[in-house]
Amino acid sequence: MAEVVIVESEAEAGALVADEIARRVSARPDAVLGLATGSTPLPVYEALTSRLAGVNVSQVRGFALDEYVGLDPQHPESYRSVIHREVVVPLGLDADRVQVPDGRLAGIETAGDEYERAIRAAGGVDLQILGIGTDGHIGFNEPGSSFASLTRVKTLTAQTRADNARFFAHPDDVPRHCVTQGLGTILRAGHLVLLAFGQGKADAVAGAVEGPLTAMLPGSAIQLHPHATVIVDAAAASRLRLADYYRAAWRDKPDWQGL
Ligand code: F6R
Repeated sequence: MAEVVIVESEAEAGALVADEIARRVSARPDAVLGLATGSTPLPVYEALTSRLAGVNVSQVRGFALDEYVGLDPQHPESYRSVIHREVVVPLGLDADRVQVPDGRLAGIETAGDEYERAIRAAGGVDLQILGIGTDGHIGFNEPGSSFASLTRVKTLTAQTRADNARFFAHPDDVPRHCVTQGLGTILRAGHLVLLAFGQGKADAVAGAVEGPLTAMLPGSAIQLHPHATVIVDAAAASRLRLADYYRAAWRDKPDWQGL
């Protein structure tokens, strides 16, 4: 089962994860980070900016989870642009060492395989940051995704397109397809850190952490991972049956175990 940490605020969650990432980068300067986009990871990136100031990050590598298909890479909401703006620039990373799946239509047939090769060539992802969609997706692995899936093109659900419409001028502008790391890809990372905030994520979090393993709730795949940490605020934790137990376990956790 994943370790569940129930925090007071998004800032507290961001600080916890940023401390862990800073520790890893200090121990291993060429650490490979798995980077999520969307609103959820922003407190992590914000906290990380000060943690990594003065740390040599020139060797750090990064892989984004996903990208929209057919959106101009220069579009401000392409995940290439978002990762550059929210992660590469503020953290001072080497842009050439941070990759995002190639969502351009030319060559889209091979984009997934190429991304898998690139992750393997980097030695795999050490720590993967994850958000979760209201429909239970991680990456853009929508309900029905195979637990063995690798990076490939997926069709976004109507719910995900509606959720992400806030980033675009018009709901119809949200692309219909994406290239996403598969659940099998995500499960190969060394440590999964899934964050979720707000009541709107409560059902998805409960399904992912305590529900049955099912492709209908792709986030439940984290139950197969030997080192998965779920960091949620009280609202996102509100449907968890074992919330009191998770609070007690975190309170009594020995310091030496880390995150
Ligand atoms: C983003 C990603 C998605 C988001 C999820 C939640 O790279 O892969 O799984 O993490 O859609 O989005 P937010 O954080 O905007 O609620």
